[in-house]
Amino acid sequence: MSVITQPMDLLRQQDPQMADVLDGERQRQATGLQLIAAENFTSAAVLGALGSPLANKYAEGYPGARHHGGCEYADLAERIAAERACALFGAEHANVQPHSGSAAVLAAYAALLQPGDTVLAMGLTSGGHLTHGSPANFSGRWFDFVGYGVDAGTGLIDYLQVQELAHTHRPKAIVCGSISYPRHPEYSVFREIADEVGAFLIADAAHPIGLVAGGAAPSPVPYADIVCATTHKVLRGPRGGMILCGAEFADRIDRAVFPFTQGGAQMHTIAAKAVAFGEAAGPAFTSYAHRVVANARTLAEELGRRGFAITTGGTDTHLITADPEPLGLDGAGARGRLAAAGIVLDTCALPHGDRRGIRLGSAAVTTQGMGKAEMGRIAELFTAALSGGEPAKVRRDVNEMVFNFPPYGV
Ligand SMILES: Cc1ncc(COP(=O)(O)O)c(C=O)c1O
Repeated sequence: MSVITQPMDLLRQQDPQMADVLDGERQRQATGLQLIAAENFTSAAVLGALGSPLANKYAEGYPGARHHGGCEYADLAERIAAERACALFGAEHANVQPHSGSAAVLAAYAALLQPGDTVLAMGLTSGGHLTHGSPANFSGRWFDFVGYGVDAGTGLIDYLQVQELAHTHRPKAIVCGSISYPRHPEYSVFREIADEVGAFLIADAAHPIGLVAGGAAPSPVPYADIVCATTHKVLRGPRGGMILCGAEFADRIDRAVFPFTQGGAQMHTIAAKAVAFGEAAGPAFTSYAHRVVANARTLAEELGRRGFAITTGGTDTHLITADPEPLGLDGAGARGRLAAAGIVLDTCALPHGDRRGIRLGSAAVTTQGMGKAEMGRIAELFTAALSGGEPAKVRRDVNEMVFNFPPYGV
Protein backbone atom coordinates (compact mmCIF):
# COMPACT_ATOMS: atom_id res chain seq x y z
CA MET A 1 0.00 0.00 0.00
CA SER A 2 1.20 3.50 -0.74
CA VAL A 3 2.86 5.13 2.28
CA ILE A 4 1.00 8.37 1.65
CA THR A 5 -2.47 6.86 1.23
CA GLN A 6 -3.77 7.47 4.75
CA PRO A 7 -3.28 11.26 5.03
CA MET A 8 -4.60 11.54 1.47
CA ASP A 9 -7.77 9.67 2.49
CA LEU A 10 -8.37 12.14 5.31
CA LEU A 11 -7.73 15.07 3.00
CA ARG A 12 -10.08 13.66 0.38
CA GLN A 13 -12.96 13.51 2.87
CA GLN A 14 -12.42 17.12 3.94
CA ASP A 15 -11.22 18.90 0.80
CA PRO A 16 -11.77 16.88 -2.37
CA GLN A 17 -10.75 19.81 -4.59
CA MET A 18 -7.25 20.00 -3.11
CA ALA A 19 -7.05 16.21 -2.78
CA ASP A 20 -7.53 16.02 -6.55
CA VAL A 21 -4.69 18.48 -7.10
CA LEU A 22 -2.30 16.56 -4.82
CA ASP A 23 -3.33 13.26 -6.31
CA GLY A 24 -2.69 14.67 -9.78
CA GLU A 25 0.81 15.69 -8.72
CA ARG A 26 1.48 12.28 -7.14
CA GLN A 27 0.40 10.63 -10.42
CA ARG A 28 2.51 13.05 -12.47
CA GLN A 29 5.60 12.22 -10.42
CA ALA A 30 4.98 8.49 -10.56
CA THR A 31 4.14 8.14 -14.25
CA GLY A 32 6.80 10.33 -15.85
CA LEU A 33 10.58 10.36 -15.91
CA GLN A 34 11.71 12.94 -13.36
CA LEU A 35 15.06 14.20 -14.61
CA ILE A 36 15.15 17.69 -13.10
CA ALA A 37 18.67 17.83 -11.64
CA ALA A 38 17.50 19.72 -8.54
CA GLU A 39 14.76 17.24 -7.57
CA ASN A 40 14.53 13.90 -5.83
CA PHE A 41 12.03 11.66 -4.00
CA THR A 42 12.32 11.98 -0.22
CA SER A 43 11.79 8.93 1.94
CA ALA A 44 8.44 8.25 3.59
CA ALA A 45 10.11 9.06 6.93
CA VAL A 46 11.05 12.54 5.68
CA LEU A 47 7.48 13.08 4.47
CA GLY A 48 6.26 11.87 7.88
CA ALA A 49 8.32 14.48 9.72
CA LEU A 50 7.14 17.19 7.31
CA GLY A 51 3.52 16.29 8.00
CA SER A 52 3.99 16.15 11.79
CA PRO A 53 2.57 18.52 14.44
CA LEU A 54 5.93 20.32 14.62
CA ALA A 55 4.43 22.19 11.65
CA ASN A 56 2.31 23.99 14.26
CA LYS A 57 5.18 25.24 16.38
CA TYR A 58 6.59 28.76 16.46
CA ALA A 59 10.25 28.78 17.45
CA GLU A 60 12.03 32.08 16.79
CA GLY A 61 15.64 32.04 17.96
CA TYR A 62 17.89 29.08 18.64
CA PRO A 63 17.74 26.04 20.99
CA GLY A 64 17.86 27.24 24.59
CA ALA A 65 17.26 30.88 23.54
CA ARG A 66 13.78 31.06 21.98
CA HIS A 67 11.35 33.93 21.88
CA HIS A 68 8.44 31.51 22.34
CA GLY A 69 7.43 29.08 25.08
CA GLY A 70 6.87 25.37 24.64
CA CYS A 71 9.99 24.82 22.56
CA GLU A 72 11.40 21.79 24.37
CA TYR A 73 10.76 19.43 21.45
CA ALA A 74 11.57 22.06 18.84
CA ASP A 75 14.92 22.56 20.60
CA LEU A 76 15.58 18.83 20.59
CA ALA A 77 14.73 18.57 16.89
CA GLU A 78 17.02 21.45 15.94
CA ARG A 79 19.90 20.25 18.12
CA ILE A 80 19.66 16.78 16.58
CA ALA A 81 19.54 18.23 13.05
CA ALA A 82 22.56 20.49 13.63
CA GLU A 83 24.58 17.73 15.34
CA ARG A 84 23.84 15.29 12.53
CA ALA A 85 24.80 17.89 9.90
CA CYS A 86 28.11 18.60 11.68
CA ALA A 87 28.89 14.89 11.96
CA LEU A 88 27.89 14.14 8.36
CA PHE A 89 30.01 16.91 6.84
CA GLY A 90 32.79 17.23 9.43
CA ALA A 91 31.80 20.84 10.12
CA GLU A 92 32.28 22.74 13.38
CA HIS A 93 28.97 24.57 13.08
CA ALA A 94 25.71 24.01 11.19
CA ASN A 95 22.76 26.36 10.90
CA VAL A 96 19.80 24.29 9.72
CA GLN A 97 17.22 27.10 9.68
CA PRO A 98 17.52 28.61 6.16
CA HIS A 99 14.18 28.18 4.43
CA SER A 100 15.87 27.54 1.07
CA GLY A 101 19.20 27.54 -0.74
CA SER A 102 18.68 31.19 -1.68
CA ALA A 103 18.00 32.08 1.96
CA ALA A 104 21.26 30.36 2.93
CA VAL A 105 23.22 32.40 0.37
CA LEU A 106 21.51 35.63 1.47
CA ALA A 107 22.51 34.91 5.07
CA ALA A 108 26.12 34.13 4.05
CA TYR A 109 26.37 37.49 2.26
CA ALA A 110 24.70 39.24 5.20
CA ALA A 111 27.24 37.67 7.58
CA LEU A 112 30.34 38.63 5.59
CA LEU A 113 29.56 41.62 3.35
CA GLN A 114 28.30 45.17 3.32
CA PRO A 115 26.08 46.50 0.50
CA GLY A 116 28.29 47.71 -2.35
CA ASP A 117 31.05 45.14 -1.74
CA THR A 118 32.56 43.38 -4.74
CA VAL A 119 31.93 39.63 -5.13
CA LEU A 120 33.47 37.29 -7.70
CA ALA A 121 31.17 34.42 -8.72
CA MET A 122 30.43 32.27 -11.74
CA GLY A 123 28.69 34.42 -14.36
CA LEU A 124 25.01 33.75 -14.89
CA THR A 125 25.46 32.72 -18.52
CA SER A 126 28.12 30.18 -17.45
CA GLY A 127 25.98 28.52 -14.76
CA GLY A 128 25.85 30.94 -11.82
CA HIS A 129 22.66 30.96 -9.76
CA LEU A 130 20.35 33.99 -9.51
CA THR A 131 21.86 34.67 -6.08
CA HIS A 132 25.29 35.03 -7.71
CA GLY A 133 24.60 38.52 -9.01
CA SER A 134 21.48 38.52 -11.17
CA PRO A 135 20.11 42.07 -11.54
CA ALA A 136 16.67 40.54 -10.86
CA ASN A 137 17.87 39.26 -7.47
CA PHE A 138 18.89 41.02 -4.23
CA SER A 139 22.49 39.94 -4.90
CA GLY A 140 22.81 41.90 -8.14
CA ARG A 141 21.08 44.91 -6.59
CA TRP A 142 23.10 45.11 -3.35
CA PHE A 143 26.55 43.92 -4.38
CA ASP A 144 28.94 44.57 -7.21
CA PHE A 145 29.29 41.17 -8.88
CA VAL A 146 32.05 40.22 -11.29
CA GLY A 147 31.49 36.97 -13.23
CA TYR A 148 34.04 34.33 -14.11
CA GLY A 149 33.32 31.85 -16.85
CA VAL A 150 34.08 28.47 -18.30
CA ASP A 151 36.33 27.73 -21.26
CA ALA A 152 34.16 27.85 -24.41
CA GLY A 153 35.85 24.73 -25.78
CA THR A 154 36.15 22.43 -22.78
CA GLY A 155 33.30 23.83 -20.67
CA LEU A 156 35.64 23.69 -17.64
CA ILE A 157 36.12 26.55 -15.17
CA ASP A 158 38.89 28.85 -16.36
CA TYR A 159 40.93 29.14 -13.13
CA LEU A 160 43.45 31.51 -14.72
CA GLN A 161 40.58 33.88 -15.46
CA VAL A 162 39.29 33.49 -11.88
CA GLN A 163 42.75 34.42 -10.61
CA GLU A 164 43.13 37.39 -12.98
CA LEU A 165 39.68 38.74 -12.11
CA ALA A 166 40.39 38.30 -8.40
CA HIS A 167 43.62 40.30 -8.66
CA THR A 168 42.00 43.00 -10.80
CA HIS A 169 38.81 43.47 -8.77
CA ARG A 170 40.00 42.51 -5.22
CA PRO A 171 36.60 41.05 -4.23
CA LYS A 172 35.53 40.82 -0.60
CA ALA A 173 34.24 37.30 -1.30
CA ILE A 174 34.60 34.64 -3.98
CA VAL A 175 31.70 32.25 -4.59
CA CYS A 176 32.23 28.80 -6.08
CA GLY A 177 29.17 26.80 -7.03
CA SER A 178 26.80 26.54 -9.95
CA ILE A 179 23.40 25.38 -11.08
CA SER A 180 24.75 23.38 -14.00
CA TYR A 181 28.49 22.62 -13.69
CA PRO A 182 28.84 18.84 -14.14
CA ARG A 183 32.40 18.59 -12.75
CA HIS A 184 33.86 19.12 -9.27
CA PRO A 185 35.06 22.64 -8.52
CA GLU A 186 38.74 22.69 -7.48
CA TYR A 187 38.08 23.95 -3.97
CA SER A 188 41.79 24.10 -3.07
CA VAL A 189 42.48 26.34 -6.09
CA PHE A 190 39.59 28.66 -5.14
CA ARG A 191 41.00 28.77 -1.60
CA GLU A 192 44.47 29.73 -2.85
CA ILE A 193 43.06 32.49 -5.05
CA ALA A 194 40.88 33.80 -2.21
CA ASP A 195 43.92 33.87 0.09
CA GLU A 196 46.02 35.68 -2.52
CA VAL A 197 43.56 38.60 -2.50
CA GLY A 198 42.33 38.37 1.11
CA ALA A 199 38.78 37.36 0.11
CA PHE A 200 36.30 35.14 1.95
CA LEU A 201 35.51 31.90 0.14
CA ILE A 202 31.82 30.92 0.00
CA ALA A 203 31.03 27.51 -1.50
CA ASP A 204 27.47 27.34 -2.79
CA ALA A 205 27.23 23.55 -2.78
CA ALA A 206 23.45 23.45 -3.34
CA HIS A 207 23.87 20.75 -5.98
CA PRO A 208 26.78 18.51 -4.93
CA ILE A 209 26.15 18.48 -1.15
CA GLY A 210 24.28 15.14 -1.30
CA LEU A 211 27.15 13.56 -3.22
CA VAL A 212 29.53 14.97 -0.59
CA ALA A 213 27.39 13.33 2.14
CA GLY A 214 27.66 9.99 0.35
CA GLY A 215 31.41 10.28 -0.27
CA ALA A 216 30.91 10.56 -4.03
CA ALA A 217 32.24 14.13 -4.40
CA PRO A 218 35.00 16.16 -2.72
CA SER A 219 33.93 18.28 0.23
CA PRO A 220 34.19 22.07 0.22
CA VAL A 221 34.08 22.12 4.06
CA PRO A 222 37.87 22.06 4.64
CA TYR A 223 38.42 24.90 2.15
CA ALA A 224 35.51 27.35 2.28
CA ASP A 225 34.82 29.85 5.07
CA ILE A 226 31.10 29.29 4.58
CA VAL A 227 29.33 26.42 2.80
CA CYS A 228 25.74 27.06 1.67
CA ALA A 229 23.58 24.15 0.58
CA THR A 230 20.09 22.94 -0.16
CA THR A 231 18.71 19.82 1.50
CA HIS A 232 16.35 18.68 -1.25
CA LYS A 233 18.52 17.70 -4.20
CA VAL A 234 20.74 14.58 -4.16
CA LEU A 235 20.67 14.82 -0.34
CA ARG A 236 17.03 13.68 -0.53
CA GLY A 237 15.69 15.77 2.34
CA PRO A 238 12.85 18.27 2.54
CA ARG A 239 12.92 21.49 0.51
CA GLY A 240 15.22 23.79 2.47
CA GLY A 241 18.68 25.18 3.05
CA MET A 242 21.58 24.87 5.46
CA ILE A 243 24.87 26.61 6.23
CA LEU A 244 28.09 24.94 7.44
CA CYS A 245 31.05 26.89 8.78
CA GLY A 246 33.94 26.96 11.23
CA ALA A 247 33.42 28.00 14.86
CA GLU A 248 34.81 31.48 14.14
CA PHE A 249 31.87 32.28 11.82
CA ALA A 250 29.15 30.59 13.90
CA ASP A 251 27.80 33.68 15.69
CA ARG A 252 27.84 35.84 12.58
CA ILE A 253 26.01 33.19 10.56
CA ASP A 254 23.41 32.54 13.24
CA ARG A 255 22.63 36.25 13.59
CA ALA A 256 22.52 36.63 9.81
CA VAL A 257 19.88 33.88 9.55
CA PHE A 258 17.80 34.99 12.56
CA PRO A 259 16.88 37.76 13.13
CA PHE A 260 18.58 39.47 10.17
CA THR A 261 17.07 37.63 7.20
CA GLN A 262 14.46 35.21 8.60
CA GLY A 263 11.76 34.96 11.24
CA GLY A 264 10.53 31.79 12.95
CA ALA A 265 12.27 28.56 12.05
CA GLN A 266 10.19 25.95 10.21
CA MET A 267 10.49 23.23 12.80
CA HIS A 268 8.75 20.43 10.85
CA THR A 269 11.21 21.01 8.01
CA ILE A 270 14.14 21.04 10.43
CA ALA A 271 12.96 17.70 11.86
CA ALA A 272 12.72 16.35 8.32
CA LYS A 273 16.25 17.64 7.58
CA ALA A 274 17.45 15.70 10.65
CA VAL A 275 15.77 12.54 9.33
CA ALA A 276 17.45 13.02 5.94
CA PHE A 277 20.88 13.62 7.57
CA GLY A 278 20.37 10.41 9.56
CA GLU A 279 19.57 8.52 6.37
CA ALA A 280 22.53 10.07 4.55
CA ALA A 281 24.92 8.87 7.28
CA GLY A 282 24.21 5.21 6.53
CA PRO A 283 25.91 2.85 4.06
CA ALA A 284 22.80 2.64 1.87
CA PHE A 285 23.14 6.34 1.10
CA THR A 286 26.85 5.97 0.27
CA SER A 287 25.93 3.31 -2.23
CA TYR A 288 23.08 5.50 -3.54
CA ALA A 289 25.37 8.53 -4.06
CA HIS A 290 27.86 6.44 -6.05
CA ARG A 291 25.05 4.93 -8.15
CA VAL A 292 23.75 8.45 -8.87
CA VAL A 293 27.13 9.35 -10.40
CA ALA A 294 27.45 6.03 -12.26
CA ASN A 295 23.96 6.48 -13.72
CA ALA A 296 24.66 10.06 -14.80
CA ARG A 297 27.89 8.93 -16.49
CA THR A 298 26.09 6.13 -18.33
CA LEU A 299 23.26 8.44 -19.38
CA ALA A 300 25.73 11.08 -20.61
CA GLU A 301 27.56 8.43 -22.67
CA GLU A 302 24.34 7.05 -24.12
CA LEU A 303 23.04 10.51 -25.03
CA GLY A 304 26.43 11.39 -26.53
CA ARG A 305 26.27 8.26 -28.71
CA ARG A 306 22.87 9.46 -29.95
CA GLY A 307 24.15 12.83 -31.13
CA PHE A 308 23.76 15.14 -28.11
CA ALA A 309 26.77 17.40 -27.52
CA ILE A 310 27.55 16.75 -23.84
CA THR A 311 29.12 19.74 -22.07
CA THR A 312 32.63 18.91 -20.78
CA GLY A 313 32.30 15.54 -22.55
CA GLY A 314 30.64 13.84 -19.55
CA THR A 315 30.02 14.29 -15.85
CA ASP A 316 31.49 13.61 -12.40
CA THR A 317 28.21 14.35 -10.65
CA HIS A 318 24.46 13.77 -10.86
CA LEU A 319 24.15 16.50 -13.46
CA ILE A 320 24.42 16.51 -17.26
CA THR A 321 24.12 19.47 -19.59
CA ALA A 322 23.82 18.92 -23.30
CA ASP A 323 23.24 20.76 -26.54
CA PRO A 324 20.56 19.07 -28.68
CA GLU A 325 21.58 21.17 -31.71
CA PRO A 326 22.96 18.18 -33.66
CA LEU A 327 19.37 16.85 -33.53
CA GLY A 328 18.12 20.13 -34.98
CA LEU A 329 16.66 21.50 -31.73
CA ASP A 330 17.40 24.14 -29.13
CA GLY A 331 16.94 23.60 -25.39
CA ALA A 332 13.37 24.90 -25.25
CA GLY A 333 12.30 22.85 -28.27
CA ALA A 334 13.81 19.69 -26.78
CA ARG A 335 12.28 20.32 -23.36
CA GLY A 336 8.82 20.80 -24.91
CA ARG A 337 8.93 17.60 -26.95
CA LEU A 338 10.31 15.59 -24.04
CA ALA A 339 7.63 16.99 -21.71
CA ALA A 340 4.93 15.84 -24.15
CA ALA A 341 6.36 12.34 -23.72
CA GLY A 342 6.39 12.57 -19.91
CA ILE A 343 10.14 13.23 -19.65
CA VAL A 344 10.69 16.23 -17.39
CA LEU A 345 13.89 18.31 -17.37
CA ASP A 346 15.12 21.92 -17.59
CA THR A 347 16.79 24.14 -20.13
CA CYS A 348 20.12 25.75 -19.20
CA ALA A 349 22.78 28.14 -20.44
CA LEU A 350 25.52 26.57 -22.56
CA PRO A 351 29.19 27.54 -22.29
CA HIS A 352 29.50 28.72 -25.89
CA GLY A 353 27.43 31.56 -27.34
CA ASP A 354 23.92 32.39 -26.21
CA ARG A 355 22.20 29.12 -27.14
CA ARG A 356 20.33 27.24 -24.44
CA GLY A 357 20.67 23.52 -23.95
CA ILE A 358 19.11 20.97 -21.61
CA ARG A 359 20.05 20.12 -18.02
CA LEU A 360 19.14 16.80 -16.47
CA GLY A 361 20.05 14.77 -13.41
CA SER A 362 20.04 11.20 -12.20
CA ALA A 363 19.11 11.66 -8.51
CA ALA A 364 15.37 10.88 -8.68
CA VAL A 365 15.52 7.96 -11.11
CA THR A 366 18.33 6.42 -9.02
CA THR A 367 16.16 6.72 -5.89
CA GLN A 368 13.50 4.83 -7.84
CA GLY A 369 15.98 1.98 -8.28
CA MET A 370 16.92 2.50 -11.92
CA GLY A 371 20.40 1.44 -13.05
CA LYS A 372 22.60 1.06 -16.10
CA ALA A 373 20.05 -0.71 -18.31
CA GLU A 374 17.41 1.92 -17.59
CA MET A 375 19.84 4.74 -18.44
CA GLY A 376 20.25 3.21 -21.91
CA ARG A 377 16.47 2.92 -22.21
CA ILE A 378 16.01 6.57 -21.16
CA ALA A 379 18.44 7.65 -23.91
CA GLU A 380 16.41 5.59 -26.42
CA LEU A 381 13.23 7.31 -25.25
CA PHE A 382 14.93 10.71 -25.69
CA THR A 383 15.72 9.86 -29.30
CA ALA A 384 12.20 8.60 -29.91
CA ALA A 385 10.66 11.75 -28.43
CA LEU A 386 12.97 14.14 -30.26
CA SER A 387 13.24 12.54 -33.67
CA GLY A 388 9.59 12.60 -34.55
CA GLY A 389 8.31 9.53 -32.67
CA GLU A 390 4.56 9.79 -32.08
CA PRO A 391 4.31 11.57 -28.65
CA ALA A 392 1.43 9.42 -27.36
CA LYS A 393 3.36 6.24 -28.18
CA VAL A 394 6.57 7.52 -26.51
CA ARG A 395 4.48 8.58 -23.51
CA ARG A 396 3.08 5.03 -23.24
CA ASP A 397 6.62 3.62 -23.41
CA VAL A 398 7.71 6.01 -20.63
CA ASN A 399 4.73 4.97 -18.47
CA GLU A 400 5.52 1.33 -19.05
CA MET A 401 9.13 1.81 -18.05
CA VAL A 402 8.50 3.79 -14.85
CA PHE A 403 5.66 1.48 -13.78
CA ASN A 404 8.26 -0.93 -12.39
CA PHE A 405 9.95 1.80 -10.32
CA PRO A 406 7.20 3.41 -8.20
CA PRO A 407 8.60 6.17 -5.95
CA TYR A 408 6.17 5.58 -3.07
CA GLY A 409 4.84 2.07 -3.54
CA VAL A 410 1.82 1.38 -5.72
C1 LIG B 1 23.89 26.82 -6.89
C2 LIG B 1 22.54 27.11 -6.31
N1 LIG B 1 22.43 28.03 -5.35
C3 LIG B 1 21.25 28.34 -4.78
C4 LIG B 1 20.09 27.69 -5.17
C5 LIG B 1 18.79 28.12 -4.56
O1 LIG B 1 18.09 27.15 -3.90
P1 LIG B 1 16.52 27.38 -3.60
O2 LIG B 1 15.80 27.18 -4.88
O3 LIG B 1 16.22 26.37 -2.55
O4 LIG B 1 16.37 28.78 -3.12
C6 LIG B 1 20.16 26.72 -6.17
C7 LIG B 1 18.93 26.03 -6.61
O5 LIG B 1 18.90 25.17 -7.41
C8 LIG B 1 21.41 26.42 -6.76
O6 LIG B 1 21.53 25.49 -7.71
